Formats: sequence, structure tokens, C-alpha cells
Amino acid sequence: MRKVLITGGAGFIGSNFVLHIRKTHPADRLIVLDKLTYAGNLENLKSLQEGPLYRFVKGDINDAAFVDSLFADEGIDTVVNFAAESHVDRSILGPRDFIETNIMGTFNLLETARKHWLTAGKTEGKRFLHVSTDEVYGSLGPTGLFTEETAYSPNSPYAASKASSDHLVRAYFHTYGLPVVTTNCSNNYGPYQFPEKLIPLMVINALKGKPLPVYGDGQNVRDWLYVEDHCSAIDIVLKKGALGETYNVGGRNEKKNIDIVKLVCSFVDERASAKALKEEYPFEGSREKLITFVKDRPGHDRRYAIDCTKMEKELGWSPAHCFEDGIRKTIDWYIENRHWWERIISGEYTKYYSLQYSGRFIKTER
Ligand code: NAD
Ligand code: DAU
Repeated sequence: MRKVLITGGAGFIGSNFVLHIRKTHPADRLIVLDKLTYAGNLENLKSLQEGPLYRFVKGDINDAAFVDSLFADEGIDTVVNFAAESHVDRSILGPRDFIETNIMGTFNLLETARKHWLTAGKTEGKRFLHVSTDEVYGSLGPTGLFTEETAYSPNSPYAASKASSDHLVRAYFHTYGLPVVTTNCSNNYGPYQFPEKLIPLMVINALKGKPLPVYGDGQNVRDWLYVEDHCSAIDIVLKKGALGETYNVGGRNEKKNIDIVKLVCSFVDERASAKALKEEYPFEGSREKLITFVKDRPGHDRRYAIDCTKMEKELGWSPAHCFEDGIRKTIDWYIENRHWWERIISGEYTKYYSLQYSGRFIKTER
């Protein structure tokens, strides 16, 4: 029975992972540690019962004494580190939290694992998996893919903070022999994603008939992966990944932002025209007319695309969802879980939304 510390487990990917691993490893004890920032939401985990197999702890990965006591009390043997400030636009508006959580927080977790696992000479069966991003590699031109050998070249404060944490994880392997492994994944989408990210923002605004803000010319490319496929990748890397290695995770699914937004419009048009939803989400014509080109994100990376050959060949992983199925499932989830996002968008988020988009809604001709 593993004792798995899942940091950031009340966020988007973390909570999907907790629900995933609950099913694939029913005997593991899961300890979720989350600060419950604006992005953390205990509602995501409400199907789990506190008890011998699951515990939720509110806390900060930066709190050294607290994390130390958790390792001691629980006998943690596995760490999956999702905890992070994750939104690029917020890192542009205010980078400090990104440095504190993503760099210092990861450092604190590494130090605690080093103390409990290495000083005690007990590395057998221990594993520290650091969840990272393809943004550490910077931006691609029109061709080529990020491989595990691509040099790091982060462009936003968020990406730089993740790159820094990846380097620390690497250094703890080479210097101390800490049993670590890192995953670098492309853009995720799916249930429980906070509505400031592209896909949920567009789905919710399309449902509500609000403007759909597309940054710049809308030609930036991201490589989209359904969140459940990211979770299965992490599950496999935890079991079979080689210590000290990094693994790129992606969907071989490059899409321009504008094409994503148009696809969301057409699926939302189709779903919301059903009799049962027409009154809830009234709209005349195609929602594409809501598309509004706005000022670009500063330093906006042009293209990301992941080469996930290593995951496929060495660990036998491949995504189970094609994009069309994944996006339909996601839109249905947001339609069926209106209470989940209504609560979020009526709270603190309203302030962020107006800060983020004030001055951006200058319609530009395309
Ligand atoms: P998220 O913002 O939805 O969730 C982050 C979670 O971390 C929240 O629950 C938050 O409360 C918690 N947290 C923040 N600071 C904390 C702290 N100091 N101590 C404890 N908990 C803290 O993020 P996400 O999209 O689920 O991303 C999770 C991880 O995956 C991040 O490390 C991110 O860099 C990485 N990642 C995300 C994507 C993506 O597309 N979303 C892709 C690749 C990698
Ligand atoms: O690539 C992995 C990364 O993907 C993760 O490491 C990050 O945590 C995650 O937030 C995500 O970063 P992006 O910046 O790519 O995601 P976001 O959803 O913010 O934006 C996706 C693209 O859509 C990007 O090119 C910016 C654009 N965009 C975004 C928003 C919010 C818009 O055009 N309009 C918008 O309103």
C-alpha cells in the first residue's frame, strides 16, 4: 500500500488525478495537501470519504514545519507535486506567488523528501514525481516538436518558475540521489478546469452569449490533451518511469486558438439548441459572432507541440481520447455542472476577469 502525498490535489489536474488513482489503485492511502487558493476547490473531491484511504489537509507546500510533520505522521513514500500557480496571464499581472509556490514550494518539498528518505537511508520504494509543463521549452516556429532534449527557454514568469523547479528536481537527483521523475505536459482540458483558461472560458461565455476574447491574431498553436489522458500518463510514469528521467506528455493534437474557439461555438450552438436547454441559454444565430479579437498577451508563445515518442515507446502510454470526443465530453460537463462554475464566476473571479480584460476589448478587424 503506497502512501501518496498529492499536492495541489484540489486543483484542475490534481483533482482529476486523485479521482483517477482512487480507481486504479484502490488500496493506496491518498493524502491531498492543498492551500485552497482561488484555483483550489474541495467540491472537486466531494465524492471521496475521509478515512484510512483518504485524507485532505489544507496547507502550504512552503510551510516547512507542516510538510515535515506530514511526512513523519503519514510515512509518505510517494509524492506527486501538482501544487502551483498555473495561469500565465496571472504571472504577468503579478509574478511573486509564482516564485514562492512554484520554486520555493518545490524546493521545500524536495528538502523534506531528502530529509525523510535519504538521511534515513530509506529510498527503497520511494518516488517524487514533479508535474511540469511544455512551456519550459519556450516557443516553436512553424515546424518541429519539443523533445526531452530540447533546451529550456521559458518566456513567461510562469514558465520560468516551472523551469526553475524542474532544474531543482533534476539537481536533487544528480546531487543527492533523490528518486525523482518529471513529466512535461502540453495543454490540458476537461472537467473542473478553472474558467480563466481558454476552453472553459470560451464554453461558459458562449453559453451565456458573452464576448469570446481571442488574443492577437488567434493563430497561436497549442497541443491539447484530455485531462484523463494526462492522469493515465502520470500513473504510468509513477510506476514505470526511470529515476532521474523526464517524460514529455502530449496529445499529438495541435490546434490554432481561433479554430478551437470556432469548434466550441459550433458544439455549443448544437447542444444549446436542444429543447431542454434553449430557454436556459437563449441565442439567435451562430455564436461565432461573439468572437472578439483583443490585445495580445505580452510575450505570447507562438506554438507548442510535443513529441511523446518516449512515453509511447518506453512506457507504452498513448492517449485514449480523440479531440472531438474530449471536447464534446467537456462541453457536456460544463452544461451539466452549471452550479460549479456559476459559484466561481460570481465570486472573486469577477474582479480578476475585469482586471484581465479591461482595455482589452478593443475590437480589431481580421
Ligand atoms: P490549478 O491552478 O488548477 O491548480 C493548482 C492547485 O495548487 C490549486 O488547487 C491550488 O490551491 C494549489 N496550490 C497553489 N499554491 C499552493 C501552495 N503554495 N501549497 C499548496 N497548494 C497550492 O492548476 P492545474 O492546471 O491543475 O495544474 C497543476 C499542475 O500541472 C501545475 O504544476 C501546472 O504547472 C502543471 N501543468 C498544467 C497544465 C495545464 O494545461 N493546466 C499542463 C501541464 C502542466
Ligand atoms: O502548455 C501547458 C500550459 O497550458 C500549462 O503549463 C499552463 O498551466 C496552462 O495554463 C496552459 O497555458 P496556456 O497559456 O497555453 O493556456 P491558456 O488557457 O491560458 O491559453 C491557451 C491559449 O489561448 C494561449 O495561446 C492564449 C490564448 N487565450 C487564452 C485566454 C484565457 C486567448 O486567446 N484568449 C483567452 O481569453
